[in-house]
Amino acid sequence: MNTIKFLDLLKINNQHRQEIDEAIKKVLDSGWYLLGEAVEKFESSFAAYCNVKHCIGISNGLDALILILRAYIEIGLMKEGDEVIVPANTYIASILAISSNKLIPVLVEPDILTYNINPDLIDEKINAKTRAIIPVHLYGQCAEMEAINSIS
Ligand SMILES: Cc1ncc(COP(=O)(O)O)c(C=O)c1O
Repeated sequence: MNTIKFLDLLKINNQHRQEIDEAIKKVLDSGWYLLGEAVEKFESSFAAYCNVKHCIGISNGLDALILILRAYIEIGLMKEGDEVIVPANTYIASILAISSNKLIPVLVEPDILTYNINPDLIDEKINAKTRAIIPVHLYGQCAEMEAINSIS
């Protein structure tokens, strides 16, 4: 039976396979697995790519999300009980990052064609407690895909 993969990560990674393999081998061979040269290089390259002054490498996506929201609390832009809007089809890490900071996740349904948060449904969820919107491009399709889907 022929199946169409929803998300073919192998196909995506294979486009850069040699570069990925070489980078992993270099780190393994160095014997230096925490911070160090490779992380510093990633941080400066990603900061340049994002056109920002700083980038801090974090162990995983969940920690990164937790720390972003924690930082907003630390600098006084958010407080316990504030609301953060997220797409209802997001990965659980988004919700855990919000709830572990004692913030309230507010779910908004995705657009059925793009799988991204439906911008038309966001307004009705915004109130005095809303502090942020995490759009999450999880399985999100681009405008071209939306056009293709609408034809077929
Ligand atoms: C949208 C999204 N956010 C956060 C995470 C969490 O990333 P990690 O598994 O690196 O903690 C994932 C993981 O799949 C994810 O898909």
